[in-house]
Amino acid sequence: MSEVPSLITLCIGAIKNAILDENGNLPYVYKLPSELFDRLLPHLPPLALQNLQDAMPSVSSNDYWFSDDCLKPSRKRKRFENFDIAWKALYKSRWSVIQKLSVDFLPEDVQQDEPITNWQQIYWEKHLQNCLDAAAEMVSITLFDGCLGDVEIPDALLKYISYEGNLSRSRSYLKLAYHCERFGLYARCLRLQSVHCVAEIGHLLRKSRLEFLEVHWIKSKEQVEGLCKVLEQNKETLASIEFIHCKLPASLVTAICESLHVKDFETNVIKNFSIKRSSFLDSSYFPLPLGLESLLSAASGLTSLVLSDNHMWWKTAKMVFDTLLDTDSGLQVLDLSENNIAGWLSHFKWGSPSLINSDRQIDKYLKSLRVLNLRSNNLQKDDADCLKYAMVYMPNLEVLNLSDNPLQDDGIRIFVPYLVKKSKCDIPLAELYLDNCELSCHGASQLLKVLSALNVPLKSLSIGDNHLTSKFGPSLGKFLLSGIQALNVKGVGLGSSGFSDAQEEITEELSLVRINISDNCGGIRTANFLSKMISQAPNLVSVNASNNWMPMESLPTICSVLKAAKGKLEHLDLRQNTLCNKGNIASLLAEFQINGKPNILLSSPAASIVLYDNDP
Ligand SMILES: *[C@@H]1O[C@H](CO)[C@@H](O)[C@H](O)[C@H]1NC(C)=O
Ligand SMILES: *[C@@H]1O[C@H](CO)[C@@H](O)[C@H](O)[C@H]1NC(C)=O
Ligand SMILES: *[C@@H]1O[C@H](CO)[C@@H](O)[C@H](O)[C@H]1NC(C)=O
Ligand SMILES: *[C@@H]1O[C@H](CO)[C@@H](O)[C@H](O)[C@H]1NC(C)=O
Ligand SMILES: *[C@@H]1O[C@H](CO)[C@@H](O)[C@H](O)[C@H]1NC(C)=O
Repeated sequence: MSEVPSLITLCIGAIKNAILDENGNLPYVYKLPSELFDRLLPHLPPLALQNLQDAMPSVSSNDYWFSDDCLKPSRKRKRFENFDIAWKALYKSRWSVIQKLSVDFLPEDVQQDEPITNWQQIYWEKHLQNCLDAAAEMVSITLFDGCLGDVEIPDALLKYISYEGNLSRSRSYLKLAYHCERFGLYARCLRLQSVHCVAEIGHLLRKSRLEFLEVHWIKSKEQVEGLCKVLEQNKETLASIEFIHCKLPASLVTAICESLHVKDFETNVIKNFSIKRSSFLDSSYFPLPLGLESLLSAASGLTSLVLSDNHMWWKTAKMVFDTLLDTDSGLQVLDLSENNIAGWLSHFKWGSPSLINSDRQIDKYLKSLRVLNLRSNNLQKDDADCLKYAMVYMPNLEVLNLSDNPLQDDGIRIFVPYLVKKSKCDIPLAELYLDNCELSCHGASQLLKVLSALNVPLKSLSIGDNHLTSKFGPSLGKFLLSGIQALNVKGVGLGSSGFSDAQEEITEELSLVRINISDNCGGIRTANFLSKMISQAPNLVSVNASNNWMPMESLPTICSVLKAAKGKLEHLDLRQNTLCNKGNIASLLAEFQINGKPNILLSSPAASIVLYDNDP
């Protein structure tokens, strides 16, 4: 940056300042010759770029576009493209997108498949979010008690948009109100904290058309009133709303839900509704807040309902389920994880006709439900039994998550008839999660035997963190032949003998795509198992073998595994193995990578070494 400025650079500098000043002559900038105009854009700070773009002569008025012969439609398009390129560069330089970096290395033709991004829109959306976050921090640190719109934005954020050390040019943009009013219309997706939810927020965000809103830490009536204004203003666009860490008595839940669907709302706008890590304070008096009940009944477009980690009890869960069933809901994802809802479905067993054993027709279904997440709900044997009856109402379920429930062997045994029946249906179960369900080797082996014999095999099974011991080896090996594509047996205590027994059983080609065998203390036998598995699983893409006590001596085997994988394996996690202590392990293994594949994760006692697939 220490080069001698050229005449053009000086010109650009002068124009830039004029643009930042918004001195009324902006339309004339469009009369600049294209060479200068096009070179100007990449040098403008965001605020100037915005000023210039706002002053763009409208397409219908001929004054500027067509006064100049060189501005043919193709040129016009080019001009829009140049703005877009400038916004993209600004976005990337401010929030360098680390996780997406690899995309930049892809060949041109692949990159064209990137979804079309409106960089100007996401630039200001994210800037506004940064301003809101900074304002929230300011308010909580300084106990500021004026108007929210008057909170001053830190210089660091202002410099991003004006590049100026001297911010006295225009005082208007020092305050949050300026940013909300000017850039609010670009916000589709915002996160609000409790301090934002004041009466004024509706006015500040009056121009935005939000599609996704995340709300944190609200608990008072005033906050809910402020929020409800925003909800009402965005009734035509707001598709997803998520509450996190909120304390909401039933009356407030009702107020929120009513602003989402009463008052002439389109009932099909809201798609995702979520309350997480929150509490419905008086749930024993109002197990299901009336407003929520009517929202669930009315919102015909609702596809995902998440009520997770809300100290919810069985009665609320029951009423949610019954409401959805009664209204013939089109819900696709129901997540009730991390509550305490044992007993929630008992009426399906005791109250209604025994549906599995009779021909009686049922006329209500959750016909669209694909994913049911009941993880960590203290569900036990009896719940598995009742679930079996309730499952009939969910004919299209594909993903069932029962992890972290003390179901034990008995619970699974009771549930097995459902799995068998389900595999004969049009839509069989594809993914089953039973991690940490207190299964024993016997119970898990029985389950795997049934699953192996199903008409349509499961695609994915997760039974990690159950104490299955090394005796589980043979069952595991046999099950691998069943056609399973993804398997998690993390931390089941396989040990050396478990791995070698499993290896013995691998006699045919496997359909396996990903497997997690981490935390199993398999030692050198883990490597032998891997070697056998790789040779029989042509589609294998991902292996997690971390924390298995694999010693230095397993290195030759691992090398031959990599050689056999011929670059088809994409991920291999070898962290927390003694093997990693070898000094030059990373470079030794790197020799077997083809086009950077697989990604090999290693750890060392000093620092963890990571081989990325695009390591330059
Ligand atoms: C900031 O800019 C104003 C006018 O644009 C000028 O009067 C003032 O001296 C500048 N301050 C500094 C510290 O450069
Ligand atoms: C709703 O949530 C699902 C995940 O549950 C997500 O895939 C989808 O994009 C979300 N829809 C909207 C409109 O935000
Ligand atoms: C199910 O639970 C497991 C943890 O056992 C979690 O990793 C997974 O994301 C969950 N899946 C679904 C679809 O809820
Ligand atoms: C198991 O390993 C896979 C990668 O192979 C990973 O995606 C998954 O999160 C792991 N599961 C657990 C429970 O750690
Ligand atoms: C492999 O599994 C371990 C848990 O055993 C987990 O911590 C790690 O994140 C997994 N690795 C990958 C790449 O998912």
